[in-house]
Amino acid sequence: MIDSLPETYIPLLPEVKAFLSQPVMPYIGGRYVAPRSEQVFETYDPSSGRRLAQVGRAQKDDADVAVKAARAAFDQGDWWLKMSPADRSKCIWRLAELIEKHGAVLAQLDSLDNGKPLETTRTVDVPLSADHLYYYAGWPPRIEGSTIPVSQHTMFNYTLREPVGVVGLISPWNYPLLMATWKFAPALAAGNCVIVKPAEQTPLSALYLARLTEEAGFPPGVFNVLPGYGEEAGAALVEHHGVDKIGFTGSVEVARKIVQGSTGNLKRVSLELGGKSPNIVFADADLERAVVGSTWAIFGNNGQSCTAGSRLYIERSVFDQVIAGMKEETRKIRVGPGMAQQQPDLGPVVSDEQLGRVMGYVHEALEQGAQAVTGGARMGGLLQDGYFIEPTIFTNVTDDLRVSREEIFGPVVCAMPFDDVEEIIGRANDTEFGLAAGLWTTDVRKAHSLAKALRAGTIWINTWGDTEAASPFGGYKQSGYGREMGKEAIDLYTEVKSVWLKTN
Ligand code: NAI
Ligand code: MG
Repeated sequence: MIDSLPETYIPLLPEVKAFLSQPVMPYIGGRYVAPRSEQVFETYDPSSGRRLAQVGRAQKDDADVAVKAARAAFDQGDWWLKMSPADRSKCIWRLAELIEKHGAVLAQLDSLDNGKPLETTRTVDVPLSADHLYYYAGWPPRIEGSTIPVSQHTMFNYTLREPVGVVGLISPWNYPLLMATWKFAPALAAGNCVIVKPAEQTPLSALYLARLTEEAGFPPGVFNVLPGYGEEAGAALVEHHGVDKIGFTGSVEVARKIVQGSTGNLKRVSLELGGKSPNIVFADADLERAVVGSTWAIFGNNGQSCTAGSRLYIERSVFDQVIAGMKEETRKIRVGPGMAQQQPDLGPVVSDEQLGRVMGYVHEALEQGAQAVTGGARMGGLLQDGYFIEPTIFTNVTDDLRVSREEIFGPVVCAMPFDDVEEIIGRANDTEFGLAAGLWTTDVRKAHSLAKALRAGTIWINTWGDTEAASPFGGYKQSGYGREMGKEAIDLYTEVKSVWLKTN
């Protein structure tokens, strides 16, 4: 810990204090090692702007060392050829148990780094990360090939599903532990060796987790964590010829750089990117539920979700009623420091940079005549040192504004009326994104026909935001490619080998 935290915070656990008492180093080949340059960067508490910790700033040289360690573990087959699938399962299961055992520590680290309420990291981020590993722990013995009835009788042909190799996993800051786990759980289950590059805003939980992999029985080099800046540590992995695949979650802008940077060795790339997800409320919906659901569709995690329901379309006859309900619901939301003893519902946005970006959209919308039914400003008073933004509902906006088209990734929703089904399908699909879409209706025909008509990787009907390890998740269009979770993620982290044997 560099600066002392406000006295109104929940006391830090001794393990957290000890972990942050000295610079936190990259984890490579089974141990924490200082970067060659010995440089560090700092992470901040977004609720107070105070400095939390120093973290080793990995760069190209360090990426080399990490790739060598992962490469050695993979090429010697420590994790897949020499270890049985059942033993790999046990290691992954034990890691899940250790996440639960150390859940209070991981929850504090994510809350400090990201700013979200401790209650949320404790009950959502951490347990969902463990669940993810429990689910994928079941996979290693079930990753099967097939026998193919080829035309020649004297030929036996079968397939094997094998790990891709060394994979670089570049993760974002909105759910620090959980987004990293979405990637490394299936990658490890499939037998890959991983290098996790956590977001520079929120590297602490992944770095703490690293020590748990040792206790879980992972051979050295199987699980590595390379903290640092995207343009340094991230780009070094993307360009490295010893890396076979990159799994990325983040912005479309960086995704393009990753695709370009990966051409040297034509490494595999999978991308989970942003969205501008349409949330459609029909007049025949259960409006009480639609009001609460649509409020949390956008404000859950402070709008810092790739699936945030940020374009809200409401059938004209109930527009005023739904907006009035959402305004009331939004005013009940308590915003405050994520580690405050008086736990809030929402914390700050993650960084000064995000604050600037989100407020830029808010000011532009207001200048263009948008009406803030509620919110529309940065929060001051006791919250002035942190990056707090009032949950904001805009009306009097149109589909063509930047605020209605671009991903804001903050607590801002654009609400617009619509008149009929054909119209709303066209407007909902008129976006470069396609991560998620949702609708609220009691008409089962409308529900199913829109589920087909909407061009997005996830459709929520009378609900929003549900995900589970067993169900595939990912984007259409510029929301990315590849699917995380479910058996689809096993496909994402494996190659298929076809074996021919002549039998005469
Ligand atoms: P970002 O896309 O820059 O960061 C995501 C990850 O990529 C981080 O680990 C970062 O270090 C890494 N990265 C950055 N530049 C890189 C490069 N050149 N090569 C390799 N890795 C690199 O996202 P940022 O700047 O934090 O946020 C900007 C916007 O991106 C947000 O406002 C939001 O719209 C979107 N975003 C979307 C996320 C999602 O879940 N879909 C998550 C985070 C951001
Ligand atoms: Mg960036």
